[in-house]
Amino acid sequence: MLKKSRMIAVALTVFMLAGVLAGCGSKPSGETAKPQKLTLYCGLMEDHMVKAVQEFEKETGIKVDAVRMSSGEIMGRIKAEKNNPKASVWFGGPADAFVQAKEEGLLEKYVSPNAGKIPVQFKDADGYWTGIYNGYLGFVSNQKLLNEKGVAAPKSWDDLLKPEFKGQVVLANPGSSGTAYTMLATIVQIMGEEKGLEYMKKLHGQVKTYPKSGTAPGRMAGQGEAIVGLSFLHDGIKYREEGMKDIILSAPSEGTGYEIGSVAVLKGGPDQEAAKKFVDWALSKKGQELGQQVGSYQFLTNPEAQAPKQAEELKDTKLIKYNLEWAGKNKSDLVEKWNNAIK
Ligand code: G6P
Repeated sequence: MLKKSRMIAVALTVFMLAGVLAGCGSKPSGETAKPQKLTLYCGLMEDHMVKAVQEFEKETGIKVDAVRMSSGEIMGRIKAEKNNPKASVWFGGPADAFVQAKEEGLLEKYVSPNAGKIPVQFKDADGYWTGIYNGYLGFVSNQKLLNEKGVAAPKSWDDLLKPEFKGQVVLANPGSSGTAYTMLATIVQIMGEEKGLEYMKKLHGQVKTYPKSGTAPGRMAGQGEAIVGLSFLHDGIKYREEGMKDIILSAPSEGTGYEIGSVAVLKGGPDQEAAKKFVDWALSKKGQELGQQVGSYQFLTNPEAQAPKQAEELKDTKLIKYNLEWAGKNKSDLVEKWNNAIK
């Protein structure tokens, strides 16, 4: 009796093992392997996103769906989808929102084999997000309009309050835009909360409009719709190269804030294996160098990657010691205070 049941157990084990081996090898005829796919939420420029998707699909055969949103919009979307995530990777946009997402349990810890190369100041110490690029905040102005007003390009935060700039400053909405939130957090870090919010209230009197995306203010200044746009300076270089010849770049002499554009795997998202492959690729030399082909001129975090030569003109920008952890953890609170201040 005992012998018989042992034989059955052995036979079952052999049968199961054969099944596992068959699964590892080629599929039985008639059954095709399911193609891998991936959904990305992207916070960087749309043309950069399209280029990255094309290249990644070509290299890996993984089919990618991607949508460009501003930083705060991505945050809102992944929060709303928390119990049923639709996307697996957050690709690009300032790390402040990634810090916030980590706090809220929306990111999956993933330390890519390529993350080791990235210097510590550009990645999360616990492995929830990793930096891919570094961009400096500043002023993108229109030289022709400056000449017409007889005023110089702003060289300090206070310059933005000059009467000549009344109704002529464009800043994106810090609730939706990572660029604008970097500015708000920078001001509060430089001036302190009370004075910083007072400054933002005064600046409100100068602002023409608050677009949703941080990519808009620099473009609007370049097109002559306003004199100054608050923008990441590399965006200004892109627009100037694209033909907006009146663009002139400047930065506040007291120092400015910066972004660490990042990538992360979203918690509980589908296709986790493909998601990790994408993160590996985004951190690689090749993945990082791709953006400059379509005018994304940030500095890069992988020391093996060649930064675009266009970024050279920004290298002496005076930076503050931007406290990213603080900025991320206080994001909701600060945006709410800003909303109240400008009401
Ligand atoms: C542009 C910049 C990126 C930045 C992003 C933030 O795409 O080139 O460096 O990360 O804007 O966008 P947002 O709309 O959130 O301000």
